[in-house]
Amino acid sequence: MLDQLSALQIEALAALADIQDESALENFRVGYLGKKGSLTALSAGMREVPADQKGAVGQKLNEVRTALTAGIEEKVAAMAAAKDAASVAGIDVTLPGLPTPNGALHPLTRIRDRAIQTLRRMGFALADGPEIETEWHCFDALNTPADHPARNEKDTFYLPDGRLMRTHTSSVQIRTMESIKALPVRIIAPGAAYRRDEIDATHLSVFNQLEGLYVGRDVSLADLKGTLEYFFQEIFGPQTQVRFRPHFFPFTEPSFEIDVKLEVKGQAPKWIEIAGCGMVDPAVFEAVSKSRGDNLFDPDLVTGFAFGMGLDRLAMILHGITDIRHLIENDVRFLGQF
Ligand code: PHE
Repeated sequence: MLDQLSALQIEALAALADIQDESALENFRVGYLGKKGSLTALSAGMREVPADQKGAVGQKLNEVRTALTAGIEEKVAAMAAAKDAASVAGIDVTLPGLPTPNGALHPLTRIRDRAIQTLRRMGFALADGPEIETEWHCFDALNTPADHPARNEKDTFYLPDGRLMRTHTSSVQIRTMESIKALPVRIIAPGAAYRRDEIDATHLSVFNQLEGLYVGRDVSLADLKGTLEYFFQEIFGPQTQVRFRPHFFPFTEPSFEIDVKLEVKGQAPKWIEIAGCGMVDPAVFEAVSKSRGDNLFDPDLVTGFAFGMGLDRLAMILHGITDIRHLIENDVRFLGQF
């Protein structure tokens, strides 16, 4: 019996060494260790083994079983490794990997989102209006008379039907006041504006503005100053100085231009003009009241402030961009820097 077991072990391990595929291996396993396998058949012979040899034979039986099981496991592992190796055959795994280019938000999108976030925290809601506007929403209702230079056909894109591409987002002030149900109005409106400007390093015929409007029972100039000072310090840093310089806009009175004192790399700090603003002119409330046909915006009862700024300009100042055309050229060498 012991000899038979030894012979079986030698024969089985030799056969195992030649096995190349999974189904042959399974046949092998069934042939030796299965219910009707030859090792199983031999172990049935234990019954006839004399009692004094049972120990030795039992031990040998276990030894053979363990050797075959281990051999099968090794073969399984070797075949899996061979399969892995075959699947990468012809691929040089030492070559450097291919970089996956990561996209990023356009600098204009980023400054717009930041401005919106900051103003929303202060209670301003988003508003919107059409880019193709009526002369009334863009000019008349904003107290801008027919002989105002902004209305010159050399400055504005007019459509054949008399409508125009809005020259500023201030038209959204009028649209919002026309449709709102109750006071206060506290909105911001980012969007495109159009002018017939000669295109150069600081001008495009399409640019981006952010409009703001706050109308209520006692909105004051102090509210305007506080809101915009806070806003620009959020955008440019808490140390930023903000100055309000008297100016003229037809739709605000008094009106101001806002300058911030900024350090451009390598230069002495200087005042940079960044936005227009002012207290809403009562003539605007009158126009809105006429259009609404009610007295929610009675010029004797409501006050408000409005502001408008160029988002392209903000992005240029923040990132030290010297040519506005970079913002629309979609050159990845430029965009990849953000
Ligand atoms: N609409 C003005 C412009 O385009 C900016 C502005 C908005 C000024 C609101 C005052 C109030 O220049």
